[in-house]
Amino acid sequence: MSLSTTGSPGAVPQPVAAPLTAAAIFLVLEINPGPEHLDAVRSFCADFSALLRAVDFREPDAGLTCALGIGANAWDQLFGSPRPAELHPFREIRAGARQAVSTPGDLLFHIRAQRMDLCFELATQIMDRLGRAASPADEVHGFRYFDNRDLLGFVDGTENPRGDEAVNAVLIGDEDPAFAGGSYVIVQKYVHDLQAWNALPTETQERIIGRKKLSDVELDDADKPTSAHNALNVIVENGEEKQILRDNMPFGRAGQGEFGTYFIGYSRSPRIIEEMLENMFVGRPPGNYDRLLDFSQALTGNLFFVPSATFLDAAGAAAPEAAPAESIQSSAAKNDGSLGIGSLKGDFLRE
Ligand code: HEM
Repeated sequence: MSLSTTGSPGAVPQPVAAPLTAAAIFLVLEINPGPEHLDAVRSFCADFSALLRAVDFREPDAGLTCALGIGANAWDQLFGSPRPAELHPFREIRAGARQAVSTPGDLLFHIRAQRMDLCFELATQIMDRLGRAASPADEVHGFRYFDNRDLLGFVDGTENPRGDEAVNAVLIGDEDPAFAGGSYVIVQKYVHDLQAWNALPTETQERIIGRKKLSDVELDDADKPTSAHNALNVIVENGEEKQILRDNMPFGRAGQGEFGTYFIGYSRSPRIIEEMLENMFVGRPPGNYDRLLDFSQALTGNLFFVPSATFLDAAGAAAPEAAPAESIQSSAAKNDGSLGIGSLKGDFLRE
């Protein structure tokens, strides 16, 4: 079946531009090899909105939402062609000690609500419904911290686009009509060396982030280094600033000394986020990198396509006409039981 009809201009998007919430779960899964599991995932996609409604309706005031993303290899096997124009495996970056690693992941569930119990209930229902079709690759439970701060102590999310601007930044339009209403999302799980970070004078931290720590006011251009986080992440094309929508969440285990930030960025083109990563890890110009990375290590890295809700609703009948036999076979032969996305290397390898 051709899926191009499902990407009609009236496609209803998934809730990618949902408001920030107090709690979130980031659930990354691998689809287990075998055509029966692909069938199960397709049928899950078609029932996904009903599952979400069932949990949400029990506590409608808690603002439960969930965006479902699909990785590049999984897409090919689940839906074949056409495929979203810019979907590809996460591109690793290696720049000396700084590495944006690519890790396994076929499905992302970005679950948000004002209460963790609802997030947890939905995650449980998702795992139950997928059964043996998928296995966990990573699961992070994030919480909102004082004043929307990250665990480094800085307010995180201030310069996010809002309203129409946010929708325009994240939703695909005429550039890929078959997938209008879809979005791309990049996730990375970072852990921080909080002891080393906290040993820095506040002024040094502020020059790394590019904003005042207490007031969250942006540093004057005269005081802001070109390597500041909020300088390297400004991308201007043809005089227009290209924006992404972030919903980073702190996470951690105090007893284990684990302090982290789960980065999640949505965009109508992954190229914008990839350019930001290039600026942060390699530097702009090369060498002028983001000093945040001297204190933060990326443990995971994935790129997913978030199709419209309209697309997902029709997914049950969407098995590719000619199954990509070669890739199904080769993934079935893998002994790690995954589709093997994480083993793919992008073309940003540096060293
Ligand atoms: C260790 C992980 C990260 C932490 C703790 C972090 C923290 C922050 C903070 C505190 C700000 C300033 C306030 C704000 O405008 O939100 C900021 C801004 C920003 N960050 Fe990050 N960030 C992280 C990773 C990333 C990554 C991986 C990207 C993109 C690939 C990114 C993109 C941005 C952008 C676009 C801005 C807004 C820049 C502006 O227009 O002023 N961040 N981040």
